[in-house]
Amino acid sequence: MKIRIFNSPHDAGIYVAALAEQIIESRRKPVLGLATGSTPIPFYEALVHLHQCGLDLSRVTTINLDEYIGLDSSHPQSYSWFMWKHLFSHVNIPKENIYLPNGVATDLEAECRRYDEIIHSHPIHLQILGIGVNGHIGFNEPDDTLLSGTHIVELRPETVMSNARFFNDIGEVPKRAITMGVQAILQADKIVLMAFGREKAKIIAKSVYGEVRTDVPASILNLHKDVTVVLDRDSAGELLDESGRLRTK
Ligand code: PGA
Repeated sequence: MKIRIFNSPHDAGIYVAALAEQIIESRRKPVLGLATGSTPIPFYEALVHLHQCGLDLSRVTTINLDEYIGLDSSHPQSYSWFMWKHLFSHVNIPKENIYLPNGVATDLEAECRRYDEIIHSHPIHLQILGIGVNGHIGFNEPDDTLLSGTHIVELRPETVMSNARFFNDIGEVPKRAITMGVQAILQADKIVLMAFGREKAKIIAKSVYGEVRTDVPASILNLHKDVTVVLDRDSAGELLDESGRLRTK
């Protein structure tokens, strides 16, 4: 794993957008795997800025990691809404190239299979990931097993609690979601895991320097050959020694 530590999420976002630009410019039909949450926002801001500076996104396909079950795309807390707000409405990615799981599908199992087919026919070149305080990637929560394909997941109490900050009341936070599985994530050519803030420092240390364990889902990224971990000084806190240098594993 490559580790890059920035002074601010803003600087980190510019770096990740530059990585995305390399992929976009070097592929005929670039496919980006995208994430939601507060962490990737500086990346989306920087990508929108690059678009305003001339970067063409008309050949890009996007595949999002997950969606809440029960929220349709017109709900302001749905991940579809989030993506339109922070990225899609500001750039020229064709609407028909944008994929998110449908959290209000009548047959959710069929929706999972539909999504796996989409991923299968659009191999992901660059996968962007955030990380939950419990180590989840997408909504692959800590468990005895990690599932390979797209699946329905019961969100862990700590995830519901953490996501409550976006809702009026914790009772409104959906308890279930559809998420891409770990196989689709690991099949991406390149993965960028982003994390900012002190509250992510412990789980970043466990994921990056610990053993590969299903109860720390992000640790599975150690099995991938091209992962860049993009941090700020706070989230990197437990990877650094007293003199502020990166500890070795
Ligand atoms: P956050 O969420 O970016 O809002 O911290 C990350 C995640 O849960 O994957």
